[in-house]
Amino acid sequence: IPVEDFDLVIFGATGDLAHRKILPGLYRRYLAGQMPPDARIIGAARSELTDDGFRDETRKAIEEFAPKVDKSQLDAFLGQLSYVAIDAKGTGGWEQLKERMRDGVVRAFYFSVAPSLFGDLAQRLSEYGIADDSSRIVVEKPFGRDLESARALNATLAQHFAEKQIYRIDHYLGKETVQNLMAVRFANILFEPLWNAQFVDHVQITVSETVGVGGRGSYYDNSGAMRDMVQNHLMQLLCLTAMEPPYHFDPDAVRDEKLKVIRALEPVSETEIVRGQYQADGGDPGYIDDAENPASRTESYVALKVRISNWRWQGTPFYLRTGKKLRARTSEIVITFKEPPHSIFDESGQKANQLVIRLQPDEGMDLTVMIKEPGPGGMRLMQVPLDMSFADALGTEAADMPDAYERLIMDVIRGNQTLFMRGDEVEAAWAWADPIIKAWEEGKARPEPYDPGSSGPDEALRLMHRDNRRWREIR
Ligand code: BG6
Repeated sequence: IPVEDFDLVIFGATGDLAHRKILPGLYRRYLAGQMPPDARIIGAARSELTDDGFRDETRKAIEEFAPKVDKSQLDAFLGQLSYVAIDAKGTGGWEQLKERMRDGVVRAFYFSVAPSLFGDLAQRLSEYGIADDSSRIVVEKPFGRDLESARALNATLAQHFAEKQIYRIDHYLGKETVQNLMAVRFANILFEPLWNAQFVDHVQITVSETVGVGGRGSYYDNSGAMRDMVQNHLMQLLCLTAMEPPYHFDPDAVRDEKLKVIRALEPVSETEIVRGQYQADGGDPGYIDDAENPASRTESYVALKVRISNWRWQGTPFYLRTGKKLRARTSEIVITFKEPPHSIFDESGQKANQLVIRLQPDEGMDLTVMIKEPGPGGMRLMQVPLDMSFADALGTEAADMPDAYERLIMDVIRGNQTLFMRGDEVEAAWAWADPIIKAWEEGKARPEPYDPGSSGPDEALRLMHRDNRRWREIR
């Protein structure tokens, strides 16, 4: 079903994110018949480019970053694109942009630029009368680097746009499984009665990556895993796993519940957080080589134990970890249930039920249950998975599932903010993360070294062992 007719301006249209995600994503929505035939995509950036020059760049980007996608309709798609060279801090290009915009269609502005330009863009859009009360702006992460800067950014945007016009992207919320987590929890009777401290022993949230930070070392070295991943992506996963049922699947109802989770987080003690930095390995550069800063104490790995101080989760810890250059690219949420209160079987072999919600690489869910080992050997127990791969279940290749970005952009056009972060949520997440980061920055300790291709520093294993638990293997 096509969305409403729109004019979408992408600021930073020649940048990496536009090339890798935004433009290929829009093309895929075009192929899916979701883009209205008159919709326009207007690239805006500093470089002097003609419309055709921008189309050529976009063609190359789509060929490179969406290699398997059908290219037969690429020319028609590119026909909907145009370009304006713009000076975010000056006057150049703004009148031209204004002339390009049509009346009576949705106007959306994607800020795929450095956060230091967000304020300038917002100001110019209102100054030149390009944005009106119904326009939408989309802002990329990082949304600030601490509570103070996030507040300042919210205040700047609020001078020109109402909260209902601001779409703060966390692309993890656009992932299929993340939304499925809400469907599984709230559209079934099976799980919710067990989804609390009485029946859940602990929760693990892992986002492990195989890539290092090479190529984006200068950004990353001022950020680190805590700011780059935990404060946003892992926090969002935590919220959706832990939140109370919203009264309706409505943007503010969902975001109110997420906010309550963040506010209920206890401060993390220093002994319950582990930071790591990957080492060099043979010819492969280590973190400090990639960051080009031999003295860097920035973490490329974090593991921590989080407690949610509310009725539902009292006594059930959430363990979070994320890192670069680890053994495999895996993102999953693992709910480990408690063991039955009493075993009636002599030979136990009993293992706790686990629900694994896989975000990556193949999206799906896995529930382990105990059954009787088949055969005449008596009552022996064994653990089997009830596996559901979404791609299998839906008969589609996983690759055909819409990417997080394309789904989120379509939500912007539809005016649906459910999967976007509200200003107060972002601030609350920084308020929780700030003391952790500050203590770290003020301290002298170096991150724990870990080997590339491993599952992180040994200290992170000990974080779990101390509680008589273990991480699910990264594979
Ligand atoms: C980004 C981070 O937000 O998410 C990157 O800045 C990280 O450092 C990326 O690699 C991970 O996203 P995905 O979708 O590949 O898991």
